[in-house]
Amino acid sequence: MTVDGPDASVKDRVRALVAAHRGDRGALLPILHRIQAEFGWIDPDVVPVLAVELNLSRADVHGVVTFYTDFRSEPAGRTTVKLCRAEACQSVGAEKVVAHAEQVLGIKVGQTTPDGSVTLEQVFCLGNCALGPAAQINGRVVGRLDPRRLDALLVTETVNS
Ligand code: FES
Repeated sequence: MTVDGPDASVKDRVRALVAAHRGDRGALLPILHRIQAEFGWIDPDVVPVLAVELNLSRADVHGVVTFYTDFRSEPAGRTTVKLCRAEACQSVGAEKVVAHAEQVLGIKVGQTTPDGSVTLEQVFCLGNCALGPAAQINGRVVGRLDPRRLDALLVTETVNS
């Protein structure tokens, strides 16, 4: 995708995804999920394409993209760390892990390191409450996190990604 908007092949692919869902009730959400799955993020430049194709306003499409935290408006880093901040994990030290992650990575939750190596995100329960503080790193759920264990996992994951 470029500063002038998505290239023709991206537009064609987005139009094909729209065509696959044309006539479906509430087609926007499944289309956005498919775009995210295919490209890893939803370039803001595809919003006008979707608006035209689905006969929606750009504001409507933008509103849905920004409402759901699952949708990214920029590419993720090579490693994605999702730290659980729900109650059970909070009660066993999740906030300490979050503060440590922000400090060592030099970014806030919701950001990606400038070198594109790590994206730090928050989630609210990974179903791993008994082993909190929990996180999901590159799709793998890990538990019993503390700052030292997180450091070790970051080294392993960023070396392998
Ligand atoms: S509260 Fe963290 S995994 Fe459930």
